[in-house]
Amino acid sequence: MSSALPVVRDVPALRAEIAAWRKTGLRVGLVPTMGALHEGHLSLVQTAKEKCDRVIASLFVNPRQFAPHEDFDRYPRDEAGDSAMLAGAGCDLLYAPDRAAMYPAGFSTNVIVSDVSTPLEGEFRPHFFGGVATVVSKLLLQALPDAAYFGEKDYQQLQVIKRMTRDLDIPVEIVGCATVREHDGLAMSSRNAYLSADERRVAARLNHIMHDAIKAARGGEAITEVEAEAARHIAAAGFASVDYIAIRDAETLQPIADLSRPARILAAAWLGKTRLIDNMAV
Ligand code: PAJ
Repeated sequence: MSSALPVVRDVPALRAEIAAWRKTGLRVGLVPTMGALHEGHLSLVQTAKEKCDRVIASLFVNPRQFAPHEDFDRYPRDEAGDSAMLAGAGCDLLYAPDRAAMYPAGFSTNVIVSDVSTPLEGEFRPHFFGGVATVVSKLLLQALPDAAYFGEKDYQQLQVIKRMTRDLDIPVEIVGCATVREHDGLAMSSRNAYLSADERRVAARLNHIMHDAIKAARGGEAITEVEAEAARHIAAAGFASVDYIAIRDAETLQPIADLSRPARILAAAWLGKTRLIDNMAV
């Protein structure tokens, strides 16, 4: 495995690399990340690699999407390890700007996406999607790739980014990629590194409880009843608290009365100081 992945740290250097590729007509893909990479991130690189001639991964732990009480300071950081993994997955370029390159002094713009940002994550992390939309719009405009790849693991984030890209006419195709899971069903996440061995065992229950809820909803049980029952099961499994478990319209994430349109089950729950999210198609 080669670990000599070229890295650029500002927009002019990024654009110079991409311009050289464009001259020869190459198709370019972008995979935005906050690092602490795992197989889930690498699956995005692999999908991008199948569809594009050159793949850029960005690595930037975006302070604007963390609230002051959240885990920005202890978020896992390992650029050398990430760079080696990306090189092994066939990535061509790492874009790792520092905070001053991304948000120079005087930076004053916020990208706010209404409606789809409001429920679920928007309710429990009100600052979150503004920070995500702002940094992702910047990344898309900095690189102007043909396509950018995002995981369904962060399903509401994917919907917010799709909405934003359409609304702002950003000429980039947004591609959603399936969630990569551990053998016991736990969705891979950089935050899983925070879990103790006991918490890790409990964490795996979330996915199974969501499967059972999907079965109950498909079996005709009322959606509000299914949600309440699933929340009780999550608490009983050993989670400290449940932010939400909800069956929603798969595009708007608004509440639904029945399964006549495509639906998604989404959950967020706490194990100690660690907040886990997951979702699946209903
Ligand atoms: P991060 O959490 O590092 O995730 C980067 C990308 O990897 C996101 O699109 C996320 O959905 C995807 N991903 C994470 N775990 C995954 C899994 N188990 N299976 C498939 N895909 C997975 O999401 C962010 O960073 C940030 O909000 C970002 C979009 C980079 C903006 O700062």
